[in-house]
Amino acid sequence: MVQEVLAELQCQPGHIYVDGTVGLGGHAEAILLRSSPTGQVVGLDQDSAALQIAALRLLPYGPRVYLIHSCYTQLAEILQQRRIESVDGILLDLGISTEQLKSSGRGFSFKGKEPLDMRMNPDVQTTTAADLLNTEPEAQLSRMFWELGEERWARRIARNIVRARQQAPLITTNQLVEVILRSLPPKTGMKRIHPATRVFQALRIAVNQELEKISAFIPQAIKVLAPGGRLVIIDYHSLEDRIVKRAFIEAERAGSVRRRYKKPLIPGEAEVASNPSARSAKMRTVEKLPASPDKNLKTGSRR
Ligand SMILES: C[S@@+](CC[C@H](N)C(=O)[O-])C[C@H]1O[C@@H](n2cnc3c(N)ncnc32)[C@H](O)[C@@H]1O
Repeated sequence: MVQEVLAELQCQPGHIYVDGTVGLGGHAEAILLRSSPTGQVVGLDQDSAALQIAALRLLPYGPRVYLIHSCYTQLAEILQQRRIESVDGILLDLGISTEQLKSSGRGFSFKGKEPLDMRMNPDVQTTTAADLLNTEPEAQLSRMFWELGEERWARRIARNIVRARQQAPLITTNQLVEVILRSLPPKTGMKRIHPATRVFQALRIAVNQELEKISAFIPQAIKVLAPGGRLVIIDYHSLEDRIVKRAFIEAERAGSVRRRYKKPLIPGEAEVASNPSARSAKMRTVEKLPASPDKNLKTGSRR
């Protein structure tokens, strides 16, 4: 949804934008091009491998780009360190990149045999997917698969995981896939998505505490936006979308922002055809109001 993001952010020269999930740098590069020659991007990602790829891609933009290996919940602190008091636009494109899925070697994909890790930032995170699978009580696993993955067969899968781990701990992705497939009733077969998709998604969200981070991020992002600046969030999951929607409504009621539209924007057919992973994307935007209460906070030089 690159064109939609650019339109929503109203990219202009001289402005400062934050890409809180810079990934491989696709959106960041588009923002730099659109805000040429003097727009700047502060790009964050908690995955150092992704950030290295983004750094190479964005090298030609020199000092207009500042990349930091960090979780987006650290945004306010990072801007303070850089003496940036406010920014003109912020983007979050949640979830996981196709690169992480295919070749991180950290167990995000159910295809192949990888360690059940799933930590986005192994430097600071200690709990892996294997830790959860091998230690959480059955009821907790079942709730995780149901609530974070909307997995219909959550109970059966949790029961079989506990049985399997009594024989030997689950260590690799193919072991988990095997237990999942064994747990499904006959004829569940291959549907639109692989039968392991929902459990893998639930584990990734739990390991990385993704929902908690979105909730913590939105109020601080709104605070650091300049009046008229916009916060754009693309999410891929109904739970994420519910959190974003509610936080935006709450901020609108508090008088700090205006929602740009009530229903989320979704990608067109052509984009979904060329990039099937965009099929569940939803984009929501708020604009900081000029007379918001946050305006009474510190004002002054922006850099
Ligand atoms: C869908 S990809 C973003 C793709 C990016 N917009 C692009 O154009 O290449 C999501 C990225 O968000 C990163 N990410 C997820 N949670 C994060 C967090 N809490 N803080 C920082 N980065 C995060 C992931 O590591 C991943 O690189």
